[in-house]
Amino acid sequence: MFADRMSRIAPSGTMATADLVEKLKKEGIDIVSFALGEPDFDTPEHIVKAAISALNQGFTHYTPTQGIPELREAIAKKSKEENDISCDASNVIVTPTKLGIFASVLALSGKGDEVILPDPGFVSYFQMINFAGAKAVGVRTLKDNGFRMLPDDVAEAINPKTKVIILNSPGNPTGCVATKDDMKGIADLAQDHGLFVITDEIYEKIIYKGEHHSIAALDNMFERTVTLNGFSKSYAMTGWRLGWVLASKEIVKEIQKIQQHSISCAVSFAQKAGVAALKGPQESVKKMVSELRERRDIMVKGINSISKLECNAPQGAFYVFAEFNYDKPSVEFAKFLIENAHVAITPGSSFGSGGEGFIRFSFATSQESIDEGLKRIENALAKL
Ligand SMILES: Cc1ncc(COP(=O)(O)O)c(C=O)c1O
Repeated sequence: MFADRMSRIAPSGTMATADLVEKLKKEGIDIVSFALGEPDFDTPEHIVKAAISALNQGFTHYTPTQGIPELREAIAKKSKEENDISCDASNVIVTPTKLGIFASVLALSGKGDEVILPDPGFVSYFQMINFAGAKAVGVRTLKDNGFRMLPDDVAEAINPKTKVIILNSPGNPTGCVATKDDMKGIADLAQDHGLFVITDEIYEKIIYKGEHHSIAALDNMFERTVTLNGFSKSYAMTGWRLGWVLASKEIVKEIQKIQQHSISCAVSFAQKAGVAALKGPQESVKKMVSELRERRDIMVKGINSISKLECNAPQGAFYVFAEFNYDKPSVEFAKFLIENAHVAITPGSSFGSGGEGFIRFSFATSQESIDEGLKRIENALAKL
């Protein structure tokens, strides 16, 4: 009945958990959710005000497909100053981040191509690659290496069909942060084998240990790299649907076609808010990261104090990827916790087969919720 390509994608495991939490809450069940993929902070006031002012001024029409020049210039300036990427406004397309990733995957890979990505990795990458008709080749990452995708493992996955490598640092669901040497090693492989790199840097500012490195800043990498970033996580703007693609003019030209024939442009007044976010005060970002760091420490300590659960402190993002030592698939384990502890977490297998045996806890929730949720889990597991 439906198009063939629809059979190649599955619904999102993380969204399914979020929907279940909403349903149970509506039924009056008090759920503690560690399933959230978004900061629980409000969008900073000066950013909201910029959007309201744009609306009041009637800035409610289509914008250029690539985005308003003021925002593209601010993004290029940020990328040059903070990420050391030589670029200008012509290299930027303003678009919701996830759509930017989707469009990049569609533009760079198709039937007969292989795309390398971290496993466990962000749920949508696997599905986007399948939808594009390409083959997703997961590179297993390990807890003992901080879940970093190591160049040697990437090298082993490369073959003549490989077209693209997807990077995600800091990473969802593991909180991994790539080192500069990891990036250099992967950049060398991309150049030696003539591959594109799609790098998803949406968590760049949420980092607790180590430093963020942009692969596009390395020698000869800009021409073969698509850098994705956005406002959702750094500025608590998930509902604004605003991010960007940064790439060479040749790649931008292709991705722009997808934007032209799909959403036309990003939301006009949200783009004005994006300008305020990049040009305005950055204290809110620092405050959020420092609060998240405290929550991370509480959560890691709490998880490790529960028998048969174990985790390392993530270096970035706002997720703890914890190993559980029960003889159950992670989907069953998650089901047990929501039914018996009324705590929602995301099963590790939602993030690829490498995530089996793990569960993802988001600590983008209050310290009280973290204490309460972990207490509930401990009590429920005591009965298992
Ligand atoms: C790794 C990663 N990339 C991209 C996104 C999507 O970002 P946006 O909501 O800005 O489209 C998410 C959201 O959870 C994510 O975790």
